[in-house]
Amino acid sequence: MVHAIRIHEHGGPDVLKWEEVEVNNPGPGEIRVRHTAIGLNYIDTYLRTGARPLPMPSILGLEAAGVVEEIGSDITHLSIGDRISYADMPVGAYSEERIMPAHIAVKIPDGIDDAVAAAAMLKGMTTQFLIRQLFRVEPGMTVLLHAAAGGVGLITSQWLNHLGATVIGTVGSKEKAKLASENGVHHVINYNEENFVENVRDITDGKGVPVVYDGVGKDTLPDSMKCLSPLGMLACFGNASGAPDPVDIMDLSNYGSIFITRPMLFHYTATRQALEECANDLFEVINSGAVKVGINQTYPLKDTAQAHRDLEGRKTTGSTVLIP
Ligand SMILES: NC(=O)c1ccc[n+]([C@@H]2O[C@H](COP(=O)([O-])OP(=O)(O)OC[C@H]3O[C@@H](n4cnc5c(N)ncnc54)[C@H](OP(=O)(O)O)[C@@H]3O)[C@@H](O)[C@H]2O)c1
Repeated sequence: MVHAIRIHEHGGPDVLKWEEVEVNNPGPGEIRVRHTAIGLNYIDTYLRTGARPLPMPSILGLEAAGVVEEIGSDITHLSIGDRISYADMPVGAYSEERIMPAHIAVKIPDGIDDAVAAAAMLKGMTTQFLIRQLFRVEPGMTVLLHAAAGGVGLITSQWLNHLGATVIGTVGSKEKAKLASENGVHHVINYNEENFVENVRDITDGKGVPVVYDGVGKDTLPDSMKCLSPLGMLACFGNASGAPDPVDIMDLSNYGSIFITRPMLFHYTATRQALEECANDLFEVINSGAVKVGINQTYPLKDTAQAHRDLEGRKTTGSTVLIP
C-alpha cells in the first residue's frame, strides 16, 4: 500500500483525502513509478471541482517526476532506475507510487533535478506550444501575457524575453509586479488597478498586439480581444477566473478579422514525436539558463488541500511542488 490524495466526490479543497491505496504490477506498455516530486497545476482545481468531470474515486494530478521501479512488457524506451517526468492524462500523479502508461514519460536530462522537472513539465510544455507552435513569436514582436507571475506566466515571460519579444504582462498585486519585471516582463500592468486595454494601446502606439496569451478567462477575455491588432490571435488557454462567456462571432470581424482558440497541451503532445520535440525544447531552454524555473512553494503531498486553497486564493507565484 502507498499513500495518495484521492477524491470521492467533486467539490472544494476538503474533498482531497490522504488515503492508502494499492499499487499493482504494470501491465503491457505500463511502468510503476516512485514519485519524488509532483507538480501542482490550475487544471487540477478544474478536475477537483468537476468543471472537468472525473469518474469516482480518482487520484488527482497530471504532472510528476520520479524513478522507474518496474516495467511491463513492450517497453523499449525506458529501463528500471531511469529518472522520468510526465505531464498528461490519465490522472494519478498525487501519489507516492503509481502505475502509468510508459508512452507519456520522458527521461529527465542530466542537469535538471526532479523538482524542477515536476515544476516545469506541464507549465513549460504549455509555454512551448503557445509561443513556438500555436503562434510563433518572433524577435521584435510585442505580446500580451495575462497572470504573468503565475506558474505558466513566469516561464512564458522568460522564454518570450529570450526570443527577443517585448512582453506586456498583467498581474494582480504589487509583489507580483516586481516578480514579473524580474522575470522578463518589460511592461507590467496591475489589472486590478489599471485598464489593460488602454495600457496596451499606449505601449503599442495604438496598434495593438499580434497575440494575447490569456489563461485568466472570464474576467479578461472580452478586453483581451480589444488588445489585438488586425488578424491577431487570442489564445484563450485557461479559465483561472471562470469559464469565459460565449463570444459574439461578429466581434471577430469587428476587431479586425481576429482569431480565437481554446487550445489544450495534450493535443499538442499527442504523438510520441510531438511529446519528445516539445519536452526537448523545454529542457534545452532550462539547461541553457534562459528559463529559470521558480519553485516558489512546496508542500508535503498530504497537505495538497492547502496548496489548492493557496493557488485558487491567488497566493502563489511561479511553480508549486508537492513532495511525497
Ligand atoms: N490549455 C492548456 O493546455 C493549459 C496547460 C497549463 C495551464 N493552463 C492554464 O494556464 C493558467 C495558468 O495555470 P497555472 O497552473 O500556471 O496557474 P497560475 O497562473 O499559477 O495561477 C493562476 C493565476 O491566475 C490569476 N487569476 C486571475 N483571476 C483569478 C481568479 N479569479 N482566481 C484565481 N486566480 C486568478 C492569478 O494571478 P494574479 O493574482 O496575478 O491575477 C493566479 O495566480 C490556468 O488557467 C490553467 O488552466 C492551460
